Amino acid sequence: ARLKMFVDDLPDMPRLQGFRVRDGELLPGNLTIGMYEKSWIFHRDLPPTRVFAYGTSRAAATVPGPTIEALAGVATHITWLNHLPTNHILPWDPSIPSPLSSSSPPISGVPAVTHLHGGVHPPAGDGNSLAWFTHNFSSTGPAFSSPTSYYPNHQPPGNLWYHDHVLGLTRLNLLAGLLAAFVLHSPPLESPLCLPSGPSFDRHLILFDRSFSSDGSLFLNSTGNNPSIHPQWQPEYFGSAIIVNGKAWPRLRVRRRRYRFRIINASNARFFRLSLSNGLRFLHVGSDSTYLRRPVPSRNFLLSPSEIADVIIDFADSAAGDRSAVLLNDAPYPFPSGDPVDEFNGKVMKFVISRRLGERDPSRLPARLPGPPPPTAAEASAARRRYIVLYEYESDTGEPTHLYINGRSFEDPVTETPTAGASEEWQVINLTEDNHPLHIHLAPFVVLEQREIVAVDEFKKCMMRINDAEGCHVQNHAGGRTDPVPAHEQGWKNVFKMRPGFMTRILVRFAMLPSGEPYLFDATAEPGYVYHCHILDHEDNMMMRPLKLQP
Ligand code: C2O
Ligand code: CU
Repeated sequence: ARLKMFVDDLPDMPRLQGFRVRDGELLPGNLTIGMYEKSWIFHRDLPPTRVFAYGTSRAAATVPGPTIEALAGVATHITWLNHLPTNHILPWDPSIPSPLSSSSPPISGVPAVTHLHGGVHPPAGDGNSLAWFTHNFSSTGPAFSSPTSYYPNHQPPGNLWYHDHVLGLTRLNLLAGLLAAFVLHSPPLESPLCLPSGPSFDRHLILFDRSFSSDGSLFLNSTGNNPSIHPQWQPEYFGSAIIVNGKAWPRLRVRRRRYRFRIINASNARFFRLSLSNGLRFLHVGSDSTYLRRPVPSRNFLLSPSEIADVIIDFADSAAGDRSAVLLNDAPYPFPSGDPVDEFNGKVMKFVISRRLGERDPSRLPARLPGPPPPTAAEASAARRRYIVLYEYESDTGEPTHLYINGRSFEDPVTETPTAGASEEWQVINLTEDNHPLHIHLAPFVVLEQREIVAVDEFKKCMMRINDAEGCHVQNHAGGRTDPVPAHEQGWKNVFKMRPGFMTRILVRFAMLPSGEPYLFDATAEPGYVYHCHILDHEDNMMMRPLKLQP
């Protein structure tokens, strides 16, 4: 049976304040957030679904979890507690290295650890994949130090999110529901902008796709497509229902005025290319973690897993007779060369537009936004260059068996050891047929160029043989056409879509904010950071590498 679309109202997630106020003074916040197993209703006509959810109590836990609202410059301390059950609710694959498959003696309980995506914070609280812990800390991973993470929030205002990050289980812990939004506000910078604000007009849309069995349980194919190697792992999870803020294809009643939507793609593997059925445009004001320098209009835009778009939609621009606008998706899956969308995964949610014309709208659209300045040409030319080559290994049947970065798995010794305070130019070469959203913890970056690789096959063969970009004359292969970086993606980002067959050059700042200021903590400490593909099924099958800053 198919679920009826647009029958559930769009929920808002609970909000938690990441700071305290005493006698008019702003003080650091202390939160305790647990992870619970509970049931969740994804659709009016669907039986309850077992999920894992973040919350301040089991009763308060939601999917997505509570939105944390913090202030730039005021720290937040969060104690994460694992109340998850003895067994996972989804089939984990014993052939994928994870605390469940490789601990001896075997651990009991579902391991978890939370990463604040886009956060600039010390390594100990980064949610390192080996810093996991189970219920009551009965088992802990080798990088675990404390259940309390310190987030200084000393960074520009913008949109972040938090989610699980356990080695080899990230795809399952997010599928089960461990994901949520985190916003960093800066009233002095943002109030003068007069963007749409307040809970009615400034909202999150957290998107992901899920499949369900008829009993309501989450459906994940329990046979991999290469079962002799990986009994359960599949290269990409795709669900048949599109979920926004925890409801399948919800609806939201809107007035004819401006709204701000902070759109997070929290899918495992699905890209969204979003547009509005009545032709309204989006005005982008920010992307992952920071504001842009000025608003950028678009009629449609592409959002990879983990990317964030911060957009204004002005429903006053709808034709007088328009009663609704459907948020549409037309991104093939896998992206870019997979199946086309169908009538179900091609629709996301519906805005039901009020009839009333002449709505008062106190918001404005400023000509300038507080995005940090781009890097200078001098910074770019001084940057040390590093090659990051993405390729996948295939079985005789042509199915991927694992995806590595520079031919190395997560467990191989660290090779990316930038100096704290330095900038580096990473030339990311994608030799696969998929687009891989590359996310770097801690360090913000700017995309300089996307350039097509000539003679990809020859280059790939050479890389498979000697795994040395320079030895394979990378510069001779990096001479194809360039593809401009879309204007709304030209600011500072923490993830970017690496096009297949292209070299993407990014300028990464290590231990330096986009404003150019140094960090207030030691970023060189243990256990370091990571960078990885944010298709979670790739990340878990080792498309992730350690990142260790040097003094
Ligand atoms: Cu959004 Cu390493 O993660
Ligand atoms: Cu990938």
